[in-house]
This record gives sequence, C-alpha cells and structure tokens, in this order.
Amino acid sequence: MKKYNFNAGPSILPDVVLEAAAKAIIDFDGTGLSLLSISHRTPEFEAVVADAKNLFRELLNIPDNYQIYFVGGGASTQFFHIPANFLKTKAGYVNTGVWTKKAIKEAKLYGQVEVLASSDDKNFTYIPKGFAIPEDLDYLYICANNTIYGSEYKTDIDSPVPLIADMSSDILSRPVDVSKYALIYGGAQKNLAPAGVTFVIIRDDMLQKVVRELPTMVNVNTHVENNSMFNTPPVFPIYVLRETLKWMKAEGGLEEIYRRNVEKAEMLYAEIDRNSLFRGTVEKEDRSLMNICFVMTEGNEDLAPAFMEFAKSKGMVGIKGHRLVGGFRASCYNACPKESVEALVACMQEFEQMHK
Ligand SMILES: Cc1ncc(COP(=O)(O)O)c(C=O)c1O
Repeated sequence: MKKYNFNAGPSILPDVVLEAAAKAIIDFDGTGLSLLSISHRTPEFEAVVADAKNLFRELLNIPDNYQIYFVGGGASTQFFHIPANFLKTKAGYVNTGVWTKKAIKEAKLYGQVEVLASSDDKNFTYIPKGFAIPEDLDYLYICANNTIYGSEYKTDIDSPVPLIADMSSDILSRPVDVSKYALIYGGAQKNLAPAGVTFVIIRDDMLQKVVRELPTMVNVNTHVENNSMFNTPPVFPIYVLRETLKWMKAEGGLEEIYRRNVEKAEMLYAEIDRNSLFRGTVEKEDRSLMNICFVMTEGNEDLAPAFMEFAKSKGMVGIKGHRLVGGFRASCYNACPKESVEALVACMQEFEQMHK
C-alpha cells in the first residue's frame, strides 16, 4: 500500500535524495569508495561541504558577513552552546513551548534569563507579540517554529539586541530576512537531512562576542575557523543535506518551495476548518506551515482512535499528535508532496461521511 509520510522528524526526504545517498554509500561521487569509508579530509568530501555551504547561502540569501558551519550534537547541544558563548549577564527568551523551555533551562546555567513573553497560559497555541525587548540583554532567543504545538513566527522580529533563532523545523521552508538575525541554527533532521548534523549560521561580529573561555568544541570560533572540520564531522548527514539543497535548487529554489508549502498548508487547514469533526488548535494567524495540528471537535472526542485507525488503513503515517497536545499532527515538510495532503484531506472527508 502507498504510504503518506507525515512524520515530525526525522521525516520525509525527496526520493532523488535517498537514491543519491544510497548510491554514495556504494560509490561516493565516482571515487570507487563508499562515502562511509573515506576520510573526511579528502578533496572530494571538502567539495561536499563547500557545495552545501554555497547552496545554503544561495537558497536562503545569506549575506556575505555570515558564516555557516555544520556540527554534531543536535539542536539540543546548541541550547547550551549559545549561552556558553554569548550569555554574560542576562538574556531574553520567548517561551513558546518545550523547545524553548529546554533552552531556558540550559541558559540558566550561565546567567540570568528574562522570559520576555510566554504562551504558556494557553498551552502554547499562539505566538506572543508586542513584548518589550530591553536593550541591556546579551541576546534575544526565539524558536521560529514550534514543532510540537504547530505555531510559527510569520515575521522576522526587529530586535535591538542580537536575535538568535532555533529554526530546526522551518529552515528553508519560507523566506527569512537573515540580516535580522545574529545566529540561526537547527537540527537538520526535518527539512534537510537525516539526524546527526546541526547547521549554524552566524554573523561575523558574534565571533568576537564570545564571553568566556570555553572548551574548544563549544566555542563557535572553532567550527568557523576549521571549516566544520575541527573533529570528524557527520559525513553522511552532510552529504544528504547537500543533495537536498541541490534538489531544492533544481525544483526552483526557496520561492517555489515556499509556494508549494503555502498551497499544502492552506489545503489542509481549509479542510480542518470546514470538516465538522475536526478543529485546529493554534490561533489562525500563527499556524505553522510545517506542523499542522488538529483535534476532534467538542462532542466528537471519542472518535479520535477510530480516525487514527481509519487514517492508518488509508496509508497515513506519523499523524499522531505529540502527547503534550494530543489529537493529530501532519508534518508537511518541503519533501512532502501535495498528493499526500490531498490523500489526508480525502481521508478526513470520508471519515466525516461515515460518521454523519
Ligand atoms: C524546534 C526544535 N528544536 C530543537 C529540537 C531538538 O533537536 P535535536 O533532537 O536535534 O536535539 C527539536 C526536535 O524535534 C525541534 O523540533
């Protein structure tokens, strides 16, 4: 049976990317050797890193005064790398759910944390807006897309202090004005690659703003100065990331990918709003393009397990909502085809007919 992959992460990657990755495991770029058994310090692999950086820069329109590096440890490692490098006295955080709470916990090990705003009061179903940003902060930290709750910032904040964003689950899904950020980072295992590599995009001036002596691997300068090769980098995920960026470019770049993402999300949200059995959980203006969350309408809650079974029988994979939110979550990352969303919509409509 055809499967429709809505996994939240690790998640769907384009078929051509998987084919290229499978091929490289046997014969990496015509070297006659497996990608898994070469030194990362070969010209061939250095070219992969260079390509990946160039494509990232081109697709996201990253200005020249920013550096890009790839490192292991997942986004969770950045939760402490960021305050270790930049939190001298006090940092501002906006609490929009689990991933910012975890980042706040780590930041408190290094200095004061001021939670400038929080959507905790409504189970993180909206993005706080209009909060004041004190000018004496070392930085302001946000999570651009909240994978678990399905909320997303739709505008780039104007911040008087360096703005740092976790874009693990919406990187390269929509245009972003990189020049408004001092640092953007994320685990690549949603839109770009398998688990194992984290991308960091950092403005040059931040490299001089490291506030304390740090272990070598924690200092941001280490990774910039050594071109992501201070230690053995996650070779395979970086290769796949390069292939995904090549795919994005061939598909028409970020503008086209964004157009498709909007089309898919509008289609699914329209059905959620129309269908008498389902309702969205997030304020309309803050709804994520990537992680689309919904629950059964009041009085129909008991139908949730039946819908889950029905959807499964129709080939839907990964639509169970996170345990903190319940209900359903369809993650519609870049590589999720429109056909998958059409199939889910058809499934919701059929289910409604069955329960009228
Ligand atoms: C927005 C966001 N930040 C951080 C993380 C943690 O990423 P990692 O597992 O790479 O540490 C996740 C994981 O799903 C996420 O969605």
